[in-house]
Amino acid sequence: MLEEITQLDTAMIRTLFDTGGEFRRARSGGDYADDFHADLARARETGPVHAGTVEEVLGVPVHVHWPEPVFSVFSYATVNVVFRDTETFNSDTMLGTFDTFGRNILAMSGDEHARYRSAAAPAFARSMTQWWIDRWIAGITDTLLARIERRGQADLNLEFCALLPLLTITGSFGVPMDDALRLRELIEDMISGTLSREQRLAASAGVGEIMLPVIAERRAKPGDDLITKLVQATMRGSDGRARGLTDEDVLAYARLLLTAGSGTTWRQLGITLWALLNHPDQLEAVRRDRKLVRLAVEESLRWEVTDPTFFRRVLADTTLGGVDIPAGARVSLCLSAANHDPKRWPDPDRFDIFRKLRPHLSFAGGPHVCLGMHVARAEMSVALNAILDRLPNLRWDPEASRPVLMGLHMRGPNELPVVFG
Ligand code: HEM
Repeated sequence: MLEEITQLDTAMIRTLFDTGGEFRRARSGGDYADDFHADLARARETGPVHAGTVEEVLGVPVHVHWPEPVFSVFSYATVNVVFRDTETFNSDTMLGTFDTFGRNILAMSGDEHARYRSAAAPAFARSMTQWWIDRWIAGITDTLLARIERRGQADLNLEFCALLPLLTITGSFGVPMDDALRLRELIEDMISGTLSREQRLAASAGVGEIMLPVIAERRAKPGDDLITKLVQATMRGSDGRARGLTDEDVLAYARLLLTAGSGTTWRQLGITLWALLNHPDQLEAVRRDRKLVRLAVEESLRWEVTDPTFFRRVLADTTLGGVDIPAGARVSLCLSAANHDPKRWPDPDRFDIFRKLRPHLSFAGGPHVCLGMHVARAEMSVALNAILDRLPNLRWDPEASRPVLMGLHMRGPNELPVVFG
C-alpha cells in the first residue's frame, strides 16, 4: 500500500476531499464563519439549556427541521450529565443510520450497545495504540511526507491531513489504494443530505461489494488486521450465549468506522496545525519539547472540536439545567460550548497548550465515548511529530490567503497553505 500512496492522483484527491464543498453543504451549516465561540458564550451565559436547535439559539439559518421538540445544552456539567444518564437519555436519534450503515453501535442503546461494542473494543483499547502506529500510522505518515518534503510548500490539509486517517482505516481493513479512495466516495454518498434514499442505499451496497469479499477472505485466512480481529471477536448474544459477529455485523462496523474515523481526524488534525501556525511561539515550543505534542493535541480538541454537536433522545419527562423537557424530545449537546465553559477553563477562548490539562468532552463520555479515540490521538501525535521533524521552519505561505475555521456542525480549515525549509 505504501508504494501505491506515492502514485496518488492529486486531482482525484482534491475532488474526494473538497473541504470547501463539504462545508458548503447545507447540512453542515458550512457557510457559517461568524465568531462561533462568542455566539456560544452569549447562549451559555443566559442558561445551560435553551429551547430550540443550536441554530435557532444562535439566530442563524436553520437547515434541518425535526418534528419533535428540540432543546440545546451548552454547559460542561449539563452536557456531561446527559452523556452519562442513560436511564433518561439514549441514542435513538441515530436510528436512521441503521438504514444505510446496518445495525451499528452508534445508534444502539443499553445492553445491545454494550454487547456489540465489547466485540470491537479490544482492537481499539489504549494498549493497542502501538499496533496501530506500527502497522499503519507511522508508515503512511512517512510516505505522505516524502511526497511533499522536497517541494518547500504544500497544502497540508489536502495532501496530508485528509489522507492519513482514511488510509489508516482502509489500511486496517487491508484493502488496496484504489478501493480506499472508492470507499471514501461511497461513504460520502451514503451520508449525503442531497442524494435520494435509493442512491444512498446503492452507495451502502457498494461498500458491501468491496468489503464482503475481504471479510470472507479473513475468515478463511486470518491476517494481522482489524477485519481479522472483528471476524474472530466474540460477544454475549441476547440469549446470554457467546457468539461471533456475522458478516453483516462486520460490514456495519466497517461503514461506521469509515464514517466516524476519517473525516473527524482529518479536520481535527487540520485544526491542530491551524492553531499552532497561528501561534508560532507555541509551535516552536512543541518543536523543541516533544512532550508538549500531547498537550497540543488535547488543547486543539478542547479549543475547537471538529464535530460540535451530538444528539440524544429524552426517554422520560425530566428537568435539565432548570428547564422542563418532555419525553420524546431531542437534546442537542453542544460540545464546543461545553469545552469553553469558563467554570472549568479560565479564559477558555484562548488557545494555550500550557493550560492545566482537564478532560474535555470532544470524544463524548459515558458508554458511547469515542471508540477510536486512542487511534485518533495516535494519528495526530505521530503526524505532528513527523511534520516537526521533516518540515523545518514551518510557517504560513506568505503568498496565500490565510485560511479560516468554518462550519457549524463540522468545523475545520478550508486549506492549510504552508512553506518550509
Ligand atoms: C478527532 C477525531 C475524533 C473525534 C473528535 C471523535 C468524536 C466522537 C464522539 C463525540 C463520539 C460519540 C458519539 C455519540 O455519543 O453519539 C464518537 C463515537 C465514535 N467514534 Fe469517534 N471521533 C474521532 C475519531 C474517531 C476514529 C479515528 C475512529 C475509528 C478509528 C472513531 C470511531 C468512533 C466510533 C465507532 C464511535 C461510536 C461509539 C459508540 O457509539 O459506542 N472515531 N466519536
